[in-house]
Amino acid sequence: MTGPDEIAEFTRLFQGFLERMQMPPVAAGREALGPRLSEHLGVDATSLPVVTATFPAFDLPNVQLAVEAWFDEFELVGLAGSDRGHYPFAELLEIAAQQYRFAIGSVDYQRLSISVDQEMDCVAFGFYLGKQGDDRYVTLLRAPNPQYGRNNVQLEVVALSKESGQRFLAALPGLIRERNVFRGQIVSFEGHEFGHGVGPFRLHPRPGIAREDVVLPEGVLERVEREVIGIAEHREALRDAGQHLRRGVLLYGPPGTGKTHTVRYLLSRLPEFTVVLLAGTSIGYIAEACALARMLQPALVVLEDCDLVAESREFSRGGGPLLFQVLNEMDGLTEEADVAFLLTTNRADLLEPALSQRPGRIDLAVEVPLPDAPGRARLLSLYGPALTLSPECVAEVVERTEGTTASFAKELVRRAVLLAAEQGSAIPGDTHLRAATDDLLSARDTLTRRLLGATDNPPVPSYAAPEPGLAP
Ligand SMILES: Nc1ncnc2c1ncn2[C@@H]1O[C@H](COP(=O)(O)OP(=O)(O)O)[C@@H](O)[C@H]1O
Ligand SMILES: [Mg+2]
Repeated sequence: MTGPDEIAEFTRLFQGFLERMQMPPVAAGREALGPRLSEHLGVDATSLPVVTATFPAFDLPNVQLAVEAWFDEFELVGLAGSDRGHYPFAELLEIAAQQYRFAIGSVDYQRLSISVDQEMDCVAFGFYLGKQGDDRYVTLLRAPNPQYGRNNVQLEVVALSKESGQRFLAALPGLIRERNVFRGQIVSFEGHEFGHGVGPFRLHPRPGIAREDVVLPEGVLERVEREVIGIAEHREALRDAGQHLRRGVLLYGPPGTGKTHTVRYLLSRLPEFTVVLLAGTSIGYIAEACALARMLQPALVVLEDCDLVAESREFSRGGGPLLFQVLNEMDGLTEEADVAFLLTTNRADLLEPALSQRPGRIDLAVEVPLPDAPGRARLLSLYGPALTLSPECVAEVVERTEGTTASFAKELVRRAVLLAAEQGSAIPGDTHLRAATDDLLSARDTLTRRLLGATDNPPVPSYAAPEPGLAP
């Protein structure tokens, strides 16, 4: 009697047979893979153990640089033909040895950005025939291929002994840290349309925002600077005194008041910091962001508009709301790490319960308020240096725009310049600014005004230090 197991086994073997029959033999003039690898190793490659390691998708260039740094010398070869990338290395070796023969061909590369203005041809599928001391290795490096369900960089190592294979893998994290192409860069995570991989990962130019370009009430910026920059400047003294460096700052306030602007200013001030930007659903990558920040410190992890996903479970991998996962990850990062977390939100009231339940993650909560009258005057001159305005007009507009945001002031100036251009006036002046103000404050523009962050009932801006509660 033939049982179901035997039929299944037969089916498997027969399918394998059919697949192998379809593989062309190594063409004349091509070198076969199996013998080449065995020759490099000095023994039959199939007799050796394969050890495997995986790395996050974005680490492809770093893994390559680390592998190349580890070997004293190496040769890199590829495989002829396509569609073989999905075989595990051990199986590739087995097939190659059984005369079903893969031929050596060119290495597959994938061009990736490794900084804003630099790309690197990264090995997407290639065998490193390497030597390190007396040890010999064959290492297969594969790029992620989310379309086929492979979301990680995969490294499979054949070594003369399990110990030398493990010695190699153990050396990699240190080399990846040392050679990391993302150190000192600004990166963000975006979801991938396929699967759950981490990538593609984006690189951003560092903004250049001067302190004078940030218009905030006296003391606000100083407090943020002290916490984020000051701690970095005094890291040795703090460490020596056993004080922690990890820190968390929450910037809260109405939309359009300059929370993101402040973050951009801090990035300009910290050119040596590695920055990981997460916003919206990409906050789900908090674990990867923290791992990267720890490895590449000093680092800044920016979580923009946390309220939008605070309660979401959809993007959380911890089961609970995403904000809880964020707080857990923040806490999981060693306190000695020179890592600053910067959270921004328009809805401190939504975050406050979770934050106060888990103290110690946020060391400083700073309100970024609506601009006061002197602030609005400064914003007009900051954004409208080309405008010729009388002091009376400025005073009038400042008064009429009570309760509006900084981004409102910016838009006001832009409209004034546009009105002047439409009317053919060379120099935008009082009349244009007044007309732009009428426009933007008119009932017709209620929605625009709201989109610029204004409130319908202008609140009296509060500049008092917002301690200890978070809610404005
Ligand atoms: N306090 C400010 N000082 C100077 N410019 C500001 C300020 N706040 C906002 N702006 C301008 O308005 C734009 C939008 O503000 P943004 O920082 O994105 O607001 P938020 O993140 O608080 O919603 C900024 O890019 C900047 O040009
Ligand atoms: Mg913002």
